[in-house]
Amino acid sequence: MRQVWRNCHVATMADGAYSAIERAAIVTRADRIEWIGPEADLPAADAAHEHDLGGAWVTPGLIDCHTHLVFGGNRSLEFEQRLQGVDYATIAAQGGGIASTVRATRDASEDALYVSARRRALHLLADGVTTLEVKSGYGLDLPNERKMLRVARRLGQTLPLTVQATCLAAHALPPEYAGRADDYIDEVARRMLPVLAAEGLVDAVDAFCEHLAFSPEQVERVFKAAAHLDLPVKLHAEQLSSLHGATLAARYGALSADHLEYLTESDVVAMAGAGTVAVLLPGAFYALRETQLPPLDLLRRHGVPIAISTDLNPGTSPVLSLRLMLSMACTLFRMTPEEALAGVTTHAARALGLQATHGVLAVDKVADFVAWEVAHPSELAYWIGGDLPKRIVRHGAVVDVAALS
Ligand code: NIG
Ligand code: FE
Repeated sequence: MRQVWRNCHVATMADGAYSAIERAAIVTRADRIEWIGPEADLPAADAAHEHDLGGAWVTPGLIDCHTHLVFGGNRSLEFEQRLQGVDYATIAAQGGGIASTVRATRDASEDALYVSARRRALHLLADGVTTLEVKSGYGLDLPNERKMLRVARRLGQTLPLTVQATCLAAHALPPEYAGRADDYIDEVARRMLPVLAAEGLVDAVDAFCEHLAFSPEQVERVFKAAAHLDLPVKLHAEQLSSLHGATLAARYGALSADHLEYLTESDVVAMAGAGTVAVLLPGAFYALRETQLPPLDLLRRHGVPIAISTDLNPGTSPVLSLRLMLSMACTLFRMTPEEALAGVTTHAARALGLQATHGVLAVDKVADFVAWEVAHPSELAYWIGGDLPKRIVRHGAVVDVAALS
């Protein structure tokens, strides 16, 4: 069906800027944008369903390109421990941290994981998110990684959200492999990835490159397996220390390297050369009370696209609002509201390999957009909390979030 969305202003986000069209209109047909421009130039055409957007600002549907949305239990007690001065690495070494979520996730049924993940996904959707990445990584064996990825697929099939599933089996060493990290990496590379990919459950492959997780050599074996399966890679890199995982990721043409507080200039140069997106995660920075800032100026100077995401996870970033990340990206990382918005639209699309169809508003792109009742798009990063009045459109259809809740 052809539909006209009129009486709005549009931040198209083309070229990573607002690229605004004031007094605009959008024409959609089925799930695509057929025309976009000043309302005064709206081409005459056959009758179409009309929506008056009441002068709202329209942005692309927001894209949360790094989440660990599917998990059992939560870690609020660990939050209390951290507040008493115990750090993340110490908690992990004591069997807490990721390992405790692995226990809870293994114990949960697929249906129970789906129900809790769906609730969190709805929070993100209500906040303007129409595309979401979901990582596995709390199963750490074949049946439980499969269970997580199946939940990710089911979310995409049952909610008005595009869900990209990333296999993060190389997230942490499962207890049954204690002292045998290389054997676990073999299991991931030789068995888990090929099987899960053959089942159609994997859109990309991620790993955690850190002293308390896997070394660059081990990550490289995972990347080789991904390349063999023709799957794109991403990496949790330079979060707590500098291991030059981002350089390794760039060598494998990674879609993104994520976290990056300890990124060096040579890593930035490698990422720029490979077109690897820098995904910054202000929620984890905030929750861990980090002080080492990701090198924004270097990323800007070398032209690396910067995405922003929630990193929604039960340990380091229990964040249910992507819009709050815009505020934190500006206040904590000194990004501009315009850069932050580009970070959850066009650059986030690139971090998922979806740039051909998502992340900007232009002819032939998917009709995923949000009409916000704000006087300027910078308000999206300015307001903290609350619920900005909005209309969410996904694949050309208005989303009724209340009916889904
Ligand atoms: O992105 N850095 C590693 N992984 C997650 C944390 C996961 C957890 O603590 O459960 C992250 O911050
Ligand atoms: Fe993460």
